[in-house]
Amino acid sequence: MLSNSKICVLLGSLLAIIGVLFLLYKSDDISVYVQGHRINRFTKHAGHYVMSSVERESDDGSFSVILKWKPGILEKELKISPVLKDLRATFKVDANNECEFKITNFEDSRFQLPENEPFPFTKQKQGTKSKESNLFETEISRVGQKFYFELRRKQTQEIIFSTRNHPIYFTDKYLEISTNLDESMIFGLGDRRTDFIIKSGKYSFWTSDAVTIDDGQPGKQLYGFHPMYLRRDVKNNQFHVTLFRNAYGHQVDYKQNSHLTYKCIGGNIDFKFFIGDSNPETSIKLYHNYINGWALHPFWVQGFHQCRWGYKNSEQLMDVWNNYNKYSIPLDSLWTDIDYMYKYQDFTIDFEKFNLQQMQQIYNLSDPYGVHWSSIVDVGIALESDAAYRGLDMNVFIQSGRTNKTFIGKVWPGETYFPDFNHPNSTDYWYEGLKNLTSFGLQQDGIWIDMNEFDSFVSGEIIPNQTIVDKILDYLAIAPPSLPFNPLGMEQIDHKTLSLSAKHYSGENALLVNATNNYTITQYDIHNLNGFGEGLATYRAAKKLGRNLIFILSRSTMFGSGRYVQHWNGDADSTWEYMRYSIPAIMNYNMYGIPFNGDDICGLFGDVTAELCARWQQLGSLYPFSRNHNGDNSISQEPYAFPDSPYVLSSTIKTLNIRYQLLKFYYHLFVRANGTGTIFRPLFWQYPADNQAYQQDMQFMIGDYLMAAPVMEQGDESQQVTYSCFYVPQNAIFYDFYNQTQVQSGKYCQNISFDAVLPLYIRAGKIVHIQDKNTVLRSRFLDNIFTLMIALNEENLAQGSILTINDYNYDENIISNCQESGDCVANILALGQFKQTNIFELSLQVESESKNTNYQTIYVDKLIVSGISLNGETYSKTVYLDQNPFAIDRDGLSYKLEIQL
Ligand SMILES: *[C@@H]1O[C@H](CO)[C@@H](O)[C@H](O)[C@H]1NC(C)=O
Ligand SMILES: *[C@@H]1O[C@H](CO)[C@@H](O)[C@H](O)[C@H]1NC(C)=O
Ligand SMILES: *[C@@H]1O[C@H](CO)[C@@H](O)[C@H](O)[C@H]1NC(C)=O
Ligand SMILES: *[C@@H]1O[C@H](CO)[C@@H](O)[C@H](O)[C@H]1NC(C)=O
Ligand SMILES: *[C@@H]1O[C@H](CO)[C@@H](O)[C@H](O)[C@H]1NC(C)=O
Ligand SMILES: *[C@@H]1O[C@H](CO)[C@@H](O)[C@H](O)[C@H]1NC(C)=O
Ligand SMILES: *[C@@H]1O[C@H](CO)[C@@H](O)[C@H](O)[C@H]1NC(C)=O
Ligand SMILES: *[C@@H]1O[C@H](CO)[C@@H](O)[C@H](O)[C@H]1NC(C)=O
Repeated sequence: MLSNSKICVLLGSLLAIIGVLFLLYKSDDISVYVQGHRINRFTKHAGHYVMSSVERESDDGSFSVILKWKPGILEKELKISPVLKDLRATFKVDANNECEFKITNFEDSRFQLPENEPFPFTKQKQGTKSKESNLFETEISRVGQKFYFELRRKQTQEIIFSTRNHPIYFTDKYLEISTNLDESMIFGLGDRRTDFIIKSGKYSFWTSDAVTIDDGQPGKQLYGFHPMYLRRDVKNNQFHVTLFRNAYGHQVDYKQNSHLTYKCIGGNIDFKFFIGDSNPETSIKLYHNYINGWALHPFWVQGFHQCRWGYKNSEQLMDVWNNYNKYSIPLDSLWTDIDYMYKYQDFTIDFEKFNLQQMQQIYNLSDPYGVHWSSIVDVGIALESDAAYRGLDMNVFIQSGRTNKTFIGKVWPGETYFPDFNHPNSTDYWYEGLKNLTSFGLQQDGIWIDMNEFDSFVSGEIIPNQTIVDKILDYLAIAPPSLPFNPLGMEQIDHKTLSLSAKHYSGENALLVNATNNYTITQYDIHNLNGFGEGLATYRAAKKLGRNLIFILSRSTMFGSGRYVQHWNGDADSTWEYMRYSIPAIMNYNMYGIPFNGDDICGLFGDVTAELCARWQQLGSLYPFSRNHNGDNSISQEPYAFPDSPYVLSSTIKTLNIRYQLLKFYYHLFVRANGTGTIFRPLFWQYPADNQAYQQDMQFMIGDYLMAAPVMEQGDESQQVTYSCFYVPQNAIFYDFYNQTQVQSGKYCQNISFDAVLPLYIRAGKIVHIQDKNTVLRSRFLDNIFTLMIALNEENLAQGSILTINDYNYDENIISNCQESGDCVANILALGQFKQTNIFELSLQVESESKNTNYQTIYVDKLIVSGISLNGETYSKTVYLDQNPFAIDRDGLSYKLEIQL
């Protein structure tokens, strides 16, 4: 017999051999620890899963099979292996365009996200239709062979997912699977500031507080958790969405036109596929339907917002408010950041600094100048505050996995507890807190939930009376102390967040996820759900407080959050680079089902220059969520704060007036979409066959109506202009929003003054309704009278839609008319033709969207018609109907008028 020490020597040398082989093979170092031994992972000498038997096959193409691990030579000699030996792989057809592929342990007992409310779940249930109707087909290895799975689009044979020639590893805390990706462009892939087309790189998925640009190195992810991508198969020009339905931290290694590898620290291998067509919106709508759609925000939120971390008292708020009023800058909400709280404690107001009477004056909506109050609530609860005592009573805080006492971290108020939104009492607790905040005589119309990754100023935890900060590493009970794989690269995974051993409620009646088999749910399992859980609790609290349409601005989100909250891109540096990446980030969030999103206009950190702030105001004037937000230590950046550069103020006013002219139009796109689909889109969305359109992620579209080409570069300070170009896709015609000049496919360059408005173009064939006759400073003063901008296409046709409601200010009006009983959308069709050489007849028709359209009368008193072509020239004409406005009401409309050229 060998002595123990000899075994150790033997093992040591074997491990060394593996290590050497490994290094020769691949430099990517992943190790798995088994029974105290470190196994350098998975060389080509490692084993693989074999297709063992077919368990079940259904007529619709669904199946389940059993996989068995076949150890490699070295594993056999070592007699240790990190992998789970028996697995079950399941393919399930949910509909002819939706399917899922899953690998679990044999018993399927591992912790995972539930597939029901409040989480995303499959709505389409096709039942037992035949395989033939599926848009896809699968192929798997034969029994006895190395396992692979392949999913193809039937019509084109393009590969949607294929593990062929890639390893699959499934250990307790490390899972790996790859797919081939030929001739692809992918979009999405999580919360990060980067180009819209994803470049090769390593992308982390782990909700974190970060101010960074993602250059393809791990650890550059931001606040949200959205493990999906939209893929364009370049050869066939078809789109689909792939969702990795696993909430654990992971990293995706992506090599363009080659493959994509998931490396994950827990759960199951779990994919959902949404098989669209050549229109990217088709795939996204399927995805949104699965993630439960998105919530509609109240109308006023569509207006402009001003915020600053550093409005330290109500005098300063007054000053901002007075300046906005003095300079006639449109504004719907003036925000307060953490400054308003007493010692930064949640659900309090520091009345010594924030005078109640002054606040009530600013936030009095009966006053023509009154604005809405939106304010921050952080997730950390200060020790020794009222909210802390109450939370302890109700037992709602996260527990330390180390001391078994209430977990302590550190945020703005100092040491804090963190609510456990899985605890049955947590919703009541959160409701009580938010209700307390309403009891002071101010209504919090916008609820801003921040730091909810959860962000903490210490990495790990504070143990009372020891300044100990736990590191994740001794939690995992696998020696030596290290994660098998760190999805954040060099960055410590508990960097600025809670210890991963921190414990969540794991008993009965959990609010988010139930534990199974006496499992204790930890931060390790549900860190990425923190923001989702708080969003849901806040939403439920707001409902209970009687709100109808709810506005919650949440920094951390997960797939499915859009049903409850809205989002902004988080902290931004006041740089051109950050401004540029705001556009792809907003497009991403449209794909993630949180279309109401924006970036901090003029940036949060650092001093913005006047020129950058003017350009950012111009760009931001068409962000869905438009808010100037500044940091505590920066120079002031309200639009009027640049007296030496008056163009900041003048261009902001002009460009925000355009926003308000378009406000009802913009909002109507959200209402009309009814909870699925995108609003703020890339150019290629409408022109998916134009390869050049894919490169233009600094231009954007609002619905399929408007194209904006903001100035994104620094210009010539002495001339106060920037030479700026934009691209009009193949076969496209647009009209300048301001002067109706036609632009056709090609590149256009011009000097644009610092004092400009956002360059904007209407797509030919579209009707946009605007309100351009009076400027209003608050959204609630917009009337029911519209101008139709009719951009005819080459067939002299144009169409659009409009909401047939006359009051957007009462949520109930919108909910009951547009969402609950029928709809509130009327379609408008315009058709033109020449009656004589110089007389153009335009007929307008209004048709209900459905039989159930509700009508409240609205009026049209002006038409701006562009694209009237005669002898190779195009003309535009403005027609004033002031004396005789026409009504859009239940009777429908058939309206004809003659335009003399
Ligand atoms: C709400 O206010 C009451 C009365 O001040 C206080 O006792 C309670 O602890 C507060 N609750 C929370 C969650 O802050
Ligand atoms: C919920 O709070 C009550 C006190 O309000 C407490 O008695 C109860 O134990 C708490 N529930 C749980 C599951 O901890
Ligand atoms: C915490 O609780 C666990 C499980 O009940 C127990 O094993 C552990 O010893 C406890 N730790 C401390 C420090 O009390
Ligand atoms: C921590 O120290 C404080 C005073 O320094 C003492 O009052 C308290 O009891 C100590 N707490 C623990 C848990 O030892
Ligand atoms: C947890 O399980 C209980 C009992 O089965 C159930 O009533 C509850 O809805 C479950 N909670 C969640 C979040 O799934
Ligand atoms: C959970 O633990 C309890 C007591 O600790 C035990 O009675 C029960 O059988 C366990 N349940 C499971 C599913 O293991
Ligand atoms: C319309 O505006 C564009 C710039 O937006 C300009 O290039 C063009 O010359 C203008 N056309 C007319 C007719 O003013
Ligand atoms: C909007 O979607 C909801 C489901 O989310 C549906 O019940 C309702 O009928 C839809 N309304 C319209 C007008 O399509």
